[in-house]
Amino acid sequence: MAMSSFEYRDGELYAEDIPLAQIAEQYGTPTYVYSHAAFIEAYRAFDNAFARHPHLVCYSVKANSNIAILEMLARLGSGFDIVSGGELARVLKAGGDPERVVFSGVGKQRWELTMALEAGIGCFNVESEAEMTLLASIAVSKNVVAPISIRVNPDVDARTHPYIATGLQENKFGVDRTTASELYHRATATDGLRIVGIDCHIGSQLTELGPIIDAMERVLELVDELGASGIVLEHIDLGGGLGVRYHDEDPLHVDTYAGAILQTLGNRPQKLLFEPGRFIAAEAGVLLSQVQLVKRNGERHFAVVDAAMNDLMRPSLYNAWQKVSEVNPGGGSRQNYSVVGPVCETGDFLARDRELCLAAGDLITIHTAGAYGFVMSSNYNTRGRPAEILVSRDRSFCIRKRETIEDLLALESPLPADLY
Ligand code: LLP
Repeated sequence: MAMSSFEYRDGELYAEDIPLAQIAEQYGTPTYVYSHAAFIEAYRAFDNAFARHPHLVCYSVKANSNIAILEMLARLGSGFDIVSGGELARVLKAGGDPERVVFSGVGKQRWELTMALEAGIGCFNVESEAEMTLLASIAVSKNVVAPISIRVNPDVDARTHPYIATGLQENKFGVDRTTASELYHRATATDGLRIVGIDCHIGSQLTELGPIIDAMERVLELVDELGASGIVLEHIDLGGGLGVRYHDEDPLHVDTYAGAILQTLGNRPQKLLFEPGRFIAAEAGVLLSQVQLVKRNGERHFAVVDAAMNDLMRPSLYNAWQKVSEVNPGGGSRQNYSVVGPVCETGDFLARDRELCLAAGDLITIHTAGAYGFVMSSNYNTRGRPAEILVSRDRSFCIRKRETIEDLLALESPLPADLY
């Protein structure tokens, strides 16, 4: 991976060829900073790993849905995995090819299915009988045919954080193998549907091959059974989930992942689809923030920074560990800090127990924040969401402006004067 995208040069942390201090000066803080090269490198590494078999990488838009990022990936030929009409609108605006879009999600609404049919997306990843029935009826009424895949829940334990494990029978995702088989047979006799594939996704931040291959084998059993009964699939979508290193995890190399998958596939001819999000985006972004003040309560040292849980939710929500670095190390006093934001919640922390040298005014970065960072941000405490800056070598582009207080108030309306 492009660890070189955020590196120290002469004792200063850079994003590609620009000092992060300069980004802070120009655009303010807190700010998400992305490396163009890192995105491209991760996309290419994934794509190249499967070069010897027909495949399509459908970047999972939820990981980082900024239109400029989608544009960059569309230019590389990426497809997209979407989960809402909103994400579809982003992909279309970014110039993404609708035929390379797969639509996942357990609760797709009528307007979303209609919008996706009108756009001519490549595949609906159907997750229930009710969704299949609704999709078929909309397609018939519009006199079109919906390309479908059934999401199979392979019932394997992905051994990841319980909030992001999706492949167990007890999770809400997909249908079990028996139901999937029934749905395929029903679909062959339903107007408005065309079977094109099968899909599964067992969870996110996967670091072990075992569950991935177990799931794939279970999916392949079904592929073979269906084939024997005359239902021939064009593609197999293995979802996303490939993990990255936040701390001391030992993630799978993408070539190891690809090698094992291709070996398990054997000589089956189906095109492979993937829906990686984190692998492509996580290491390509940092959250840049400024220390407001340092304080000590009893034995605990706090660095209060201008970013908070509303900007980066992963530490608070999953107790996730993300690396914190000083942008210009050397000042301040070395302490074991809790790095916290100004939000009024004890759960508002970005990092705990970190040896750092910090003083008011210093800049820090929180690393591996390109995936599930900005997209999960909120306006809690009426805080505007951060700006997003894309760096390419010595150029920087503001790809999303910082939200202003006016932006935050704009959608609310006053009460009528006669209401007491
Ligand atoms: N496909 C489907 C159907 C998914 O549900 C997901 C992620 C992906 C693909 C992409 O997974 P990835 O390659 O990024 O692991 N907010 C959490 C992660 C939630 C993942 C949800 N689904 C986090 O910050 O760790």
